[in-house]
Amino acid sequence: MAKPKKRYVCQACGSVSHRWQGQCADCAEWNTLTEDAPATVFSLKHDLSSGGRAVEFVDLDKPGAMPTRQPTGLAEFDRALGGGLVPGSAILMGGDPGIGKSTLLLQAAGKIAREGHGVVYVSGEEATGQVRMRAARLGLSDAPVKLAAATGVRDILTTLGQMEAPSFLVIDSIQTMHSDTIEGAPGTVSQVRGCAFELIRYAKENDVALVLVGHVTKDGNIAGPRVLEHMVDVVMSFEGERSHQYRILRALKNRFGAVDEIGVFSMAGEGLEEVANPSMLFLSGRDEPMAGSAVFPAIEGTRPVLLEIQALIVRLQSGATPRRAVVGWDSGRLAMLLAVLESRCGLNFSSAEVYLNVAGGYRLSDPAADLAVAAALISALADKPLPDRSVWLGEVSLAGEIRAVAHGGLRLREAAKLGFERGFGPVDTKGKDATLDYKGLGQLANLVDRVIGSA
Ligand code: TYD
Ligand code: MG
Repeated sequence: MAKPKKRYVCQACGSVSHRWQGQCADCAEWNTLTEDAPATVFSLKHDLSSGGRAVEFVDLDKPGAMPTRQPTGLAEFDRALGGGLVPGSAILMGGDPGIGKSTLLLQAAGKIAREGHGVVYVSGEEATGQVRMRAARLGLSDAPVKLAAATGVRDILTTLGQMEAPSFLVIDSIQTMHSDTIEGAPGTVSQVRGCAFELIRYAKENDVALVLVGHVTKDGNIAGPRVLEHMVDVVMSFEGERSHQYRILRALKNRFGAVDEIGVFSMAGEGLEEVANPSMLFLSGRDEPMAGSAVFPAIEGTRPVLLEIQALIVRLQSGATPRRAVVGWDSGRLAMLLAVLESRCGLNFSSAEVYLNVAGGYRLSDPAADLAVAAALISALADKPLPDRSVWLGEVSLAGEIRAVAHGGLRLREAAKLGFERGFGPVDTKGKDATLDYKGLGQLANLVDRVIGSA
C-alpha cells in the first residue's frame, strides 16, 4: 500500500497543504501549519456480507417526523432560533469575547432546568465556583442545572452515558475541549473537529439539543475550521459593541428556520434582559432636531427598528488628505454616495473629513438606508437640521435616482405609530396611505434643494 501523504493544516484558516511552510499560503498567518493525521480510506465491498447494514427509507410525509421544539424560556432566543430548540440538533454560538455568550446560555440553561428538563452545562473556561457566582448574580442559584468544569470529551461523554440524557447540553467552549484519541493541543483544527464530531454524534443519538460556544477570530470568523459550520445545524452569532448595552442574536445558518429574525437583548446588572419591542431602542432621546442626524426605518426579520444615522463634516484648512470613517455601515457604500452627491448634486466633500455613525452600536447593511445617509450628509454639510420628526428611506442609484425599497409601507406605518410626522423616500412607495405626511423624491438633487435651498 502506498504510504499516505503527509498533510499540514493551517490552524487559523483550515487550509490544507502537502508541504510544511512557515507562512500559510491562504491566510498569510505565520507558524500556523501543523501536521494532520491522514484520513483513512476504506475500500468497500458492496454487499451485506461486508458488515454493512441496509438503510431504511422513509417517506417525506411520514407522520411524527416534525420535531417538537423546546422553548428556551427566553422569547428573544427562541425567535432567533426560529421557534425554540430542536431536540437532537447542534448549535454553534459565536461572538466576541466578553459579549455575553456564557451569560445568555447560563440564563437559558437555568430557565429550561426550572421547567423540569435535564440540563448539563460544561465549562472548559471557568471553574464551577465562577459559574456559580454568575448564576447567583442572575438569580438562578436554585435552578437544577448540572454544572461541571471539564475539558476531556471522553470523560464528558462517559459521564453523560451513565445518566439519563439531558434535553439541553452546553459546551463552553469547543476550543477548550480535548479528545485523547486525537493528536494536538486543544483548539487546533483536528481537535476542534474531532471533539465537535463526537459531541454532535452523542446529541443526535440521544435527542439532546447541544450548544457549542465558539471563539471568534479578530476578523470576525468563528475560530477553527469552517467545517465546524458545516457540521452543525444552526450557526448563531451574538453581536454588539461591548461598550454599548445592546446585544443582537442572529442566526447565520439555520436548518430548521429562517435566518432573518433577530433577538434583541440589553446587558444589565442582572444579566441579559429581553427587549421585546426594539423599534425605539436605537434612537437618542433628543428633542430638538440636530444637523447631521437622520432617522432610518429599518426592518429586522418581521420587526421594524428605527435607527439614527449621524454624520459629521469637518472642513480642512490645509491640503492634508481628508479622513473618511464609518461605524456601523459599509465604507464602500459611503464612498459611492459621496461620489453621487459630488457628481450629480454638485456638492463638494473633497476637502472635508467625513464621519458617519449608526447610533447604538448597530450594524446596518440594508441598501434602503442610502437616502437617510445622504440626508444626514447633506444636513451636516449645510449645517442645517432636517425637518423635525421625519424618517428617510430609499436606495440611491449611481445616476442619483431614488429607488423603491422592500416593505416601504410597513416601515412608514411603524414610524407613524411611533410619532413620526413626515416621511421622505421614492416616488412610487406603497404606504403613502400611512398616517404621516409622505413626500416622494425622484432625484437626490431634489433633496439637496429641499435642505440647502430652504434657507
Ligand atoms: P460573558 O457571558 O462572560 O461573555 P462571553 O462568554 O461571551 O465571553 O459576559 C461577560 C460580560 O458581561 C462581562 O464583561 C460583564 C457582563 N455582565 C453584566 O454586565 N451583567 C451580568 O449580570 C453578567 C453576568 C455579565
Ligand atoms: Mg464565556
